[in-house]
Amino acid sequence: MALATTLTVNGVTRTIQLDDPRVTLLDLLRERLDLTGTKKGCDRGQCGACTVIVDGRRVNSCLALAISHDGAEILTIEGVAQGNRLHPLQEAFLAHDGLQCGYCTPGQIMSAIGLIQEGQTGDDPERVREGMSGNLCRCGAYRGITEAVLEAQKALARVGRKEVA
Ligand code: FES
Ligand code: FES
Repeated sequence: MALATTLTVNGVTRTIQLDDPRVTLLDLLRERLDLTGTKKGCDRGQCGACTVIVDGRRVNSCLALAISHDGAEILTIEGVAQGNRLHPLQEAFLAHDGLQCGYCTPGQIMSAIGLIQEGQTGDDPERVREGMSGNLCRCGAYRGITEAVLEAQKALARVGRKEVA
């Protein structure tokens, strides 16, 4: 039985036919929409590499069935920059060396966007570490990641942007 799901991904609404109702949001993004910035790490909800924003909330897309998010608005790493202008989190990751191999970086950035939107960061590194604890970095770039999130949070607060994406 053919199924269809309609998603708005990075501002573009698409209807996708699914052969199998068990297709995950991660596989749909990567394999059907060619949005390979979202990474598949563990594929079992433990590493955060697949994090995207679904209707304003952080989601591990490897655990999400595409069909169950019919009608959702999804933001992936491909949608956060404005043309050539990087998102403040992307700029801060570069400035603070918040990445080494970079594999976890898209998920880290999406998770940080969610964290800041949730208003949970304050200026406390410990709260950032706690809020980002679902995102693993095998290279150990955590210090730079924490610094980057704090800086981006301040930058976004300075310009008075409530919406960070
Ligand atoms: S790939 Fe989804 S949490 Fe690891
Ligand atoms: S930068 Fe390598 S896993 Fe995070």
